[in-house]
Amino acid sequence: MKNGLNEKAVNISVPGTRVFANKAAALPDGINLTLGEPDFPTPAPIKEAAIAAIRNDQTGYSHNAGLLRLRESVSAFFREEYGFLYNPDGEVLITTGASEGIDSTLRAILNEGDEVILPAPIYSGYEPVIHLAGAVPVYLDTSKTGFRPDPAELESLITDRTKAVLLNLPSNPTGVTLDKEEMDALVAVLERHDVFIISDEIYSQNTYGEPHVSFGSYPQIREKLILVHGVSKSHSMTGWRIGFVLGPEYLIETILKVHLSNSICASLPSQYAAIEALDHCRSLPAEMNKEYRKRRDAVVERLRQMGLDVILPTGAFYLFPSIKNTGLTSYEFAEKLLGQQHVAVVPGSSFTKYGEGFIRISYATSMNNLMEAMDRMAVFVKEHIQSATIPQEQASKS
Ligand SMILES: Cc1ncc(COP(=O)(O)O)c(C=O)c1O
Repeated sequence: MKNGLNEKAVNISVPGTRVFANKAAALPDGINLTLGEPDFPTPAPIKEAAIAAIRNDQTGYSHNAGLLRLRESVSAFFREEYGFLYNPDGEVLITTGASEGIDSTLRAILNEGDEVILPAPIYSGYEPVIHLAGAVPVYLDTSKTGFRPDPAELESLITDRTKAVLLNLPSNPTGVTLDKEEMDALVAVLERHDVFIISDEIYSQNTYGEPHVSFGSYPQIREKLILVHGVSKSHSMTGWRIGFVLGPEYLIETILKVHLSNSICASLPSQYAAIEALDHCRSLPAEMNKEYRKRRDAVVERLRQMGLDVILPTGAFYLFPSIKNTGLTSYEFAEKLLGQQHVAVVPGSSFTKYGEGFIRISYATSMNNLMEAMDRMAVFVKEHIQSATIPQEQASKS
C-alpha cells in the first residue's frame, strides 16, 4: 500500500540531528553533541505548578487559543523583555511547542505553489512543513556573508510568488544574531514588499552579547509579522510542548482555526507550568547563559587550536565550524568521527546544501562531555586535516 501514501510525507527525510543522536546512543561511550535542547532540568517551581494543576483537576481542554491567564503572561513577557505589546485577547495563541505554531502558521497562509524564502543554512524543521503545505522553499545563501542574510540579496529573491520570508534569529544552526543596524536594513526591505514575515525567535533569551532585537519592535511591519516563540529553550521545557504565536488579529484568527483543527488546545497542565515560568522564572535564561558562554568559549578555543575555522556565535547554543580543510564532506566527517571516536555531531548539509563544509556542535551538554569530545575530535582532525592549512601559531598549540 506504499503507493497510497502522501508523496510529500513519504519524502520527508529524517533530520540529521536524529540520525546521529540515535547512532551515538547505541555506543556505550558515545558523546552526543547533536542535542537541540537545554541540558538543565526544568526548575522545581515550574514542575510544582503543573503538579498542582493536575491535583486541582486542571486536566481538560482549555480555550482553543490557550488559557487567557497564560496569554496575559506571554503578552507581559514580550512587553517587559522586548518593549512591544500584543493583546492577549486576539493577538496571542498558545500552541503545542513552537513547531506546531510554525506548521499552523504556514498552513494558514500558504497556497499551492507559493514560495517561502529562507536564509540558509537553516533549521531543518521548516522545509518539510513548507512542502506539506504545497509550497516551495527558496533559499537565500548566507554561507558567503558570515551566515548573515544580505538585505539586497533577500530583495532580489522576492517575486510575485513569494508569500513569506521565514527568519530564525538567533540562528539554529549557526548561532548568529543580528544587531539593530542589521535588523533595520532587513526591515527596510521587508517593509517595501507584500510578503508575510514569520520570525522564529525561540532562542531570543539565549544571547551572549548585545540584547536580542526582535522583529516585533518594528511597528512598520506589524500587520504582516507572525512571531513564533515558546518556553522550550528559554526555560528548559522542550518536553512540555508549549509555544506561542503572536500576530495581528486577522492572522491569529485563521492560524487559530488550523490550530484548533489539529490540536484543539495545548496541554493544560503544561500551560500552568508556562505561566509559572514566565511570571516567576524570568532570570533562568540568564543563569543558563552564564554556563553556555563558558562552554562556548572553551569549545571555540579547542576548535581553533585544531585548525578549524569557527565564527564566535552570539546566540542559541550551537557552534558551526568549517571542516573544509579536512577534505571531507560534512556527512563523511560526522560519520567517520562517530565511527572512529564515538562523538556525534550534525553534518552541516542537514541544514540545506548551504551548510555543506560545516558541522553543528551543540554545547547544551556538560563541560566534561565537551572537553572529552574535543580531545577525541582533535585526534580525528589531526589525522584528516590538510596540514598546510593549519595556521602556524594554532598548530603549535595543539
Ligand atoms: C529554530 C527552532 N525552532 C523551533 C524549534 C522547536 O521548538 P519546540 O520544541 O518549541 O517545538 C527548534 C528546536 O530545535 C528550533 O531549533
